Amino acid sequence: MLVFLKLGGSLITDKSLPRTARQDVIGRLAAEVAQARRERPDLALVLGHGSGSFGHVEAQRYGTARGVSTPAEWRGMAEVWRVADLLNRIVIDVFAEAGIPVMRFSPSSGGMGQSGRVVALPSEPLRMALEGGLVPVVYGDVMLDQERGGMIASTEASFAYLAARLEPHRILLAGLERGVYSDFPRGRTVIPVLTRRDWDTLRGQVGGSVNADVTGGMASKVEGMLDLMGSLPGLRAFIYSGESAGATRRALLGEELEGTWIRD
Ligand code: IPE
Repeated sequence: MLVFLKLGGSLITDKSLPRTARQDVIGRLAAEVAQARRERPDLALVLGHGSGSFGHVEAQRYGTARGVSTPAEWRGMAEVWRVADLLNRIVIDVFAEAGIPVMRFSPSSGGMGQSGRVVALPSEPLRMALEGGLVPVVYGDVMLDQERGGMIASTEASFAYLAARLEPHRILLAGLERGVYSDFPRGRTVIPVLTRRDWDTLRGQVGGSVNADVTGGMASKVEGMLDLMGSLPGLRAFIYSGESAGATRRALLGEELEGTWIRD
């Protein structure tokens, strides 16, 4: 069974402090992934992670998501790449230390964008890594863009490209929030299942993000997933909180837990 798991930037970094990784949380998540893999040896996994207070802060400073043309914007893109890579290095090392055979596939070096969309990623090498029992890692990164020079490729955008080619059974999105709330920002009521039709009435109530977030926060995450579910019927995505201990292990094993299923 193939699962894509994203560890959101808000979960693995302190979004109120620039370039601050939550090492303890990353360590706990790595232990949960290792445990789930031991319990389900047939679990194949593509791991993704966001950029939180690493890439988002620099990306906002240089406006990378709007395109890259001036020399200052090009240098800015390289700076966003560098800080996104710093966090990736931390995640890779912590997961490797937990015994997970991770191998990075950088969207910035292996991918290509067009008008802000991901149009190429090395899905075949990634498939081979999966077949060899490895855990390929992608992450929120910069990407060269044939129309705009450069762009920001969110983990979800890379997942969407890869999902069409690798056909995962489900996509798990672990963040700080318990799911998609129907009463944002109060956040008491988690919507258990969200379809395109529900979304048309709820759209205005689901918020963006309180801190710097160049890839749009919860509303754009839901939109992106609904688009993907529309094009890949049968695929489901699950948005849940990775903050509660054990939740990620349970989600990987397909056990019941609080969160929002997104489906066609
Ligand atoms: C953002 O990636 C990438 C950069 C800003 C460089 P994501 O959209 O996947 O990250 P989070 O989860 O919002 O932090």
